[in-house]
Amino acid sequence: MKAITLLWFSLGIFQAHTAFAGPGDSSSKPKVVPGSSDDLGVCHCSLAITDFTFPIERMELLETSNLNLSLKFQEEINKIQDYQHRLDTYLENIKNLTTRVELCNKGGVSYSELDFEMLKLEISELESLVIDLKTSLTGSNDKVRDLYIEVENISVIVNQLERHDKNNILKVRKEIASLQKRLDECKDSKSPITSHYGTCQHGEIMDVGKPQIVQVNWRGTSYPSGAWGKEAFFGSTSELHWVLSSDYNSYFTTVRLYQSYKDLRQYKTYKDQAISGKGNALTLYNNSFYYDCHSSRICKFDLDTLKREEKHVQNLATRFFYTSNQYHNMDLEADEYGLWVLYSREDVLGNMVIGLVNATSIEVIKTWTTSAYMPRVTNAFMVCGVMYATRTLSTREEEIFYMYDTNTGEEGHLRIPFEKLLENIHSLSYNPNDRKLYMYNNGFEAIYDLQFKPLTEGKS
Ligand SMILES: *[C@@H]1O[C@H](CO)[C@@H](O)[C@H](O)[C@H]1NC(C)=O
Ligand SMILES: *[C@@H]1O[C@H](CO)[C@@H](O)[C@H](O)[C@H]1NC(C)=O
Ligand SMILES: *[C@@H]1O[C@H](CO)[C@@H](O)[C@H](O)[C@H]1NC(C)=O
Ligand SMILES: *[C@@H]1O[C@H](CO)[C@@H](O)[C@H](O)[C@H]1NC(C)=O
Ligand SMILES: *[C@@H]1O[C@H](CO)[C@@H](O)[C@H](O)[C@H]1NC(C)=O
Repeated sequence: MKAITLLWFSLGIFQAHTAFAGPGDSSSKPKVVPGSSDDLGVCHCSLAITDFTFPIERMELLETSNLNLSLKFQEEINKIQDYQHRLDTYLENIKNLTTRVELCNKGGVSYSELDFEMLKLEISELESLVIDLKTSLTGSNDKVRDLYIEVENISVIVNQLERHDKNNILKVRKEIASLQKRLDECKDSKSPITSHYGTCQHGEIMDVGKPQIVQVNWRGTSYPSGAWGKEAFFGSTSELHWVLSSDYNSYFTTVRLYQSYKDLRQYKTYKDQAISGKGNALTLYNNSFYYDCHSSRICKFDLDTLKREEKHVQNLATRFFYTSNQYHNMDLEADEYGLWVLYSREDVLGNMVIGLVNATSIEVIKTWTTSAYMPRVTNAFMVCGVMYATRTLSTREEEIFYMYDTNTGEEGHLRIPFEKLLENIHSLSYNPNDRKLYMYNNGFEAIYDLQFKPLTEGKS
């Protein structure tokens, strides 16, 4: 039954089609339009006019969709412009990040200064923004794809850097721990490493040992400048140690005192003594600090009386400095023979002058002129009345290259290279009580053993 009805229906359509299609041919025959009349006798028929030259309905439809399209188009354009703007901002950010990461890679910024967490946060923020962009543009934009790769690349580099940094810190910490252990063992076993010749019964320095790291200064590595040492008055049994730690400022206002080496190592039971001076070339001699204070003056600060005295150094040239320091014009040193001041004078063209200082009156009582040009010297120290000057060979190597013997007035050129932990030597001094060199090296305190030639060999 159903099939028959369907067939009839399709036939009906077919008929209607032929009937409507009729007017397509341009014959002037009257058209027969099928119709029907309802119960009330009203006649119904529908007529499709196909030969109208202008399809008004389609036009209307087209118009609305055109309007829709142009609206949509404008929307897209706005979007793209917005993306473009955001892309530019991202590109700027990425450039900034890249610069910072490159700087880190080149070592321009120390790892501790780099805030990895901040960097990672910024990168993940960028990453999510770029992903957002990528989905909005359905991945068809090359610029976005490149951006995405770049962001991912930076993220990988930062992670690598961070891992690297962690390893480094762990490694350095391990090294420090093992060195400290060895150092303590050395200190405990009283057996001397180098042969003793008695007070100054030896020739010139023959060799400098490896650096023994004692510790990072109490303020940390962000205070790279400073000095340290212990009582340097020959024969003193005082174990008073001191640390001066500063940033790059030219003046210091405090020196931290520890009653013993053990206290220093444990950063405990200290006293912060207010003392103000220039640079970091101090020495603690017979319980007084001697240092460059101002206007070519040596200052003496007595730790017993807390009194400060000062004395002008004649003819001191204030425009010459060690290569390692631009603040102090004089370096106070102590050795077996007494207290010394090292500085330069105009009349000897900036060469170094050795002055023996009366520790009581702070007067320079005798001077010797050397041929070491002060601005070419990193640092200098005295041993048994002999001045030794160092210069930089590389970021990791220093060399004692010059000596002047005030006992004989003789000078000499030496080649005694020695290692340093980091690039900048901020202070270097000899202590006659343990015959060691004390170095402040980019915030690290280190000690060096010295080996001397026997007396006969020294005088050749
Ligand atoms: C035009 O846009 C309106 C609203 O977005 C929508 O309802 C309508 O169907 C669209 N017309 C055409 C022809 O696309
Ligand atoms: C990089 O970004 C930091 C933090 O947003 C800003 O302080 C610094 O000025 C920027 N540097 C450049 C070169 O844009
Ligand atoms: C990723 O970074 C490395 C190192 O800077 C660079 O050589 C490489 O071309 C970068 N790759 C992309 C896709 O940016
Ligand atoms: C060391 O200091 C003491 C006490 O201030 C003093 O009596 C003595 O003369 C000083 N010795 C030297 C060599 O300066
Ligand atoms: C050091 O100065 C003090 C005080 O002026 C004086 O008594 C002493 O003799 C001086 N010592 C030397 C070696 O010049």
